[in-house]
Amino acid sequence: MIRLYHIVKSYAERDALRDVSVHVEKGEMVYITGPSGAGKSTMLKLLYGAERPTSGKMLLGGVDVSKMSTQQLPALRRNMGVVFQDFKLLPHRSVAENVAMALEVIGAPDDSIRRRVPAVLNIVGLKGREDDLTGVLSGGEKQRVAIARAIVNDPAILLADEPTGNLDGAMAVEVMEILQAINLRGTTVLVATHDVGLMDRFPYRKLRFVDGRLVGGAAPKGGRG
Ligand SMILES: Nc1ncnc2c1ncn2[C@@H]1O[C@H](COP(=O)(O)OP(=O)(O)OP(=O)(O)O)[C@@H](O)[C@H]1O
Ligand SMILES: [Mg+2]
Repeated sequence: MIRLYHIVKSYAERDALRDVSVHVEKGEMVYITGPSGAGKSTMLKLLYGAERPTSGKMLLGGVDVSKMSTQQLPALRRNMGVVFQDFKLLPHRSVAENVAMALEVIGAPDDSIRRRVPAVLNIVGLKGREDDLTGVLSGGEKQRVAIARAIVNDPAILLADEPTGNLDGAMAVEVMEILQAINLRGTTVLVATHDVGLMDRFPYRKLRFVDGRLVGGAAPKGGRG
């Protein structure tokens, strides 16, 4: 599903990723972990095309995206959902509107929007909260709206950058349980986190980064490298 070969990402002052080669199989759930500044967010940004690799090759579902043009990026992102630490919701819009927007921007037909929005709100446990403004929700509820928005287009890959970073322990566990449930439905899930407690409680393969280098977990367990 995701295959990176010798990926380097250099910014002016420094290399954020150095010679990273990694495989993630379809349907896997993996962590991207390591200390602050190790390159976790950079790794996710490369995957959803917010940043381009300086060198190396990147295959997503067999497609070489390392050389994709800017015009081709929307097609890539259509297959991907992204969740951030700070939710990025529109506070004066309702739960349903925030989720529906993800479908509206890609020109989905109204009947599919009417069908998909309640379905994903059900998955994240927000049934009945459709009309609440997201600005008044708790942090955990906001993150559930953000996850619903990320999966409403039924993406093959879900990327989450510190999705529990702004949540207390109980809410973090709830969010992890939702990500786990989404993974069990077949979505490949990558979660950047440095929360050791959560990784112990929800054990999945850890891609461990230190100073831009992948120092552990490069290949799936028992996988074909
Ligand atoms: N746009 C940018 N311009 C210059 N340097 C950058 C840029 N984005 C990231 N970096 C640098 O690249 C390195 C990796 O950053 P990255 O955000 O990927 O780390 P991280 O592992 O996500 O850290 P954190 O746990 O703090 O979120 C850091 O040294 C950072 O300063
Ligand atoms: Mg980060």
